[in-house]
Amino acid sequence: MATLTRVPLVFSSNRVAPAPAASLNHKCNCVASSSPLTRKLPHCSTPSSLSFNPFSSSFPSFSTRQNKGFRRTSVVVASMADLSTVLVTGAAGRTGQIVYKKLKERSDQFVVRGFVRTPESKETIGGADDVFVGDIRDTTSLVPAMQGIDALIILTSAVPRMKPGFDPTKGGRPEFYFEDGAYPEQVDWIGQKNQIDVAEEAGVKQIVLVGSMGGTNPNHPLNSLGNGNILVWKRKAEQYLADSGVPYTIIS
Ligand SMILES: NC(=O)c1ccc[n+]([C@@H]2O[C@H](COP(=O)([O-])OP(=O)(O)OC[C@H]3O[C@@H](n4cnc5c(N)ncnc54)[C@H](OP(=O)(O)O)[C@@H]3O)[C@@H](O)[C@H]2O)c1
Repeated sequence: MATLTRVPLVFSSNRVAPAPAASLNHKCNCVASSSPLTRKLPHCSTPSSLSFNPFSSSFPSFSTRQNKGFRRTSVVVASMADLSTVLVTGAAGRTGQIVYKKLKERSDQFVVRGFVRTPESKETIGGADDVFVGDIRDTTSLVPAMQGIDALIILTSAVPRMKPGFDPTKGGRPEFYFEDGAYPEQVDWIGQKNQIDVAEEAGVKQIVLVGSMGGTNPNHPLNSLGNGNILVWKRKAEQYLADSGVPYTIIS
């Protein structure tokens, strides 16, 4: 597995802001994008430092030279209206927490919202008012969080549970299952499709979908995990996004 550390996706703007998913040091392999710029590049790449901006914002900036004795200063003026509003779903997950936090650290560039499944998850990431609680399987619960967003980062995933009784000292492999209603078909397909549909309806300008390698291999071992076919359903959602017409980035 290679580590993707640079995604050369840049839109024209006065100033390109660092990307949210960018500084994750996340193990990634491929990036697909609807950007013509990235289309010219090999489908998979392993460059060395991650610095892409899926939702660039433009900031008016100017320099001033003060009178004698003062050094030149650069002033960046950005009103709330200039900032990109970004919604991170699965914001309390392993990856989602990092992305949400990294974007929060860039409050001069992004207005950040989180979307989590439970009030407990909301507390996990600080319980701020910008964190919405809902279920991606229920489109109505997604609507308030999506109102007025510029970009959506999808970091939800079905979560396999280990069957009780596994004893590593006895060897063998643990078995996994998915809870009723939380199979990959419901979460990774229907749930991601719902997010794409609601975001599109809300006028989103860019969707970043973090998926998984191996989606085109139905025999991939991860598909047998809990009989969930998880990669098959994730792949179906990727294809749906690619066909949606919304500018997108898929990281896997
Ligand atoms: N972690 C990695 O190393 C890695 C590497 C490559 C790709 N990825 C991909 O990145 C994505 C995220 O991975 P992850 O490891 O961060 O996942 P994770 O830790 O399992 O987080 C998944 C999140 O999705 C949320 N979720 C599940 N069902 C939901 C529902 N019905 N409504 C709302 N939220 C729901 C979960 O909330 P609850 O906790 O409340 O259930 C959880 O916070 C996945 O697609 C994965 O394949 C991850």
